[in-house]
Amino acid sequence: MASILFSPLSIKKITLKNRIVISPMCQYSAVDGFANDWHLVHLGSRASGGVGLIIQEATAVSPEARISPADLGIWKDEHVQKLKTINEFIVSQNSIPGIQLAHAGRKASVSVPWEGNKKLDFAQGGWQTVSSSTIPYHEGEPFLPTALDKNGIQKVVADFKAATKRALEAGFQVVEIHGAHGYLLHQFLSPLTNERTDEYGGSFENRIRFTLEIVGAVQSEWPSDLPLFVRISATDWAEGGWNPEESVKLAAILKEKGVDLIDVSSGGLVSHQKITLGPGYQVPFAEKVKKEANISTGAVGLITEAKQAEEILNNGQADLILFARESLRNPNLPLDFAKELDSDIQWPKQYERAKI
Ligand SMILES: Cc1cc2nc3c(=O)[nH]c(=O)nc-3n(C[C@H](O)[C@H](O)[C@H](O)COP(=O)(O)O)c2cc1C
Repeated sequence: MASILFSPLSIKKITLKNRIVISPMCQYSAVDGFANDWHLVHLGSRASGGVGLIIQEATAVSPEARISPADLGIWKDEHVQKLKTINEFIVSQNSIPGIQLAHAGRKASVSVPWEGNKKLDFAQGGWQTVSSSTIPYHEGEPFLPTALDKNGIQKVVADFKAATKRALEAGFQVVEIHGAHGYLLHQFLSPLTNERTDEYGGSFENRIRFTLEIVGAVQSEWPSDLPLFVRISATDWAEGGWNPEESVKLAAILKEKGVDLIDVSSGGLVSHQKITLGPGYQVPFAEKVKKEANISTGAVGLITEAKQAEEILNNGQADLILFARESLRNPNLPLDFAKELDSDIQWPKQYERAKI
């Protein structure tokens, strides 16, 4: 039987040559938000490795939206040029370049992972963080986020809009809005972090308002014939938090608004989360959202093998498979998977002599 992992998928006017996606992964290697040759080589080698779609790491819509000072950004026009060069290379490899637009909210202003992910104060190059409410990520943390007021909310929405315009100029063909992992949008979605009493807090309709405003702002710049994805955390893995039922409800609303695919992750909101880890542990959430909200989904999380990915697609649990850590171990994952699944795919001509 022909492999489904290596079958093409058309979404709007884009056709992905296969269902293998590089999941967004921060490289913490930018200066002042600018991409450089690390990003070119990192993303470029995965494009030549045969993936259908590459979603560039969480890319900040403003300086304060960064997780660390070394995050990629797209808050000024000068950022566009290098991203464009990278995207031209990705396209030359018959792969599709996508970008994840992000705001870290209260989880911003920390050092890079290899320097301990520590909260940075002003003297260390840190900045005032913002959130839906003034609750810090770690209990007792000395730096409290500021709760965004109406003007602050409008500024973030405008930042997403401007970033989308630049993303289009840079040649991205897929935009993914980061609504997962406890970052700013998720901080509005979940009752564990959102204690607001205005129209952005309380009821489900109020908690999703900020996300819907951002989706609308992105859509006001993003062509309606190009794919728009939203990444969500399907559950907070914590009592009283955002849950799979709310995820389905949100996904159905997003579908109605023209979002094409929900990239279904989980967790990241609160430090007391209790995650049950295992191979494909988030796949049931992708399946639930796909079936109950009737929208395409991406599955991600501890998916490491060709047959496992093939099975998820065959079972109708998701439409795309995102690989993060396994694709760091092996940039040529699709070339290897194709061999295993007996699919004859095109190798870069420079590498053809290695094809067996
Ligand atoms: C180095 C690294 C950086 C990451 N950065 C991001 C990111 O920018 N945006 C995001 O949504 N998820 C990010 N993630 C999460 C991955 O996209 C993915 O959801 C997670 O690693 C689970 O998939 P895996 O088991 O295939 O690694 C990152 C993960 C890693 C390992």
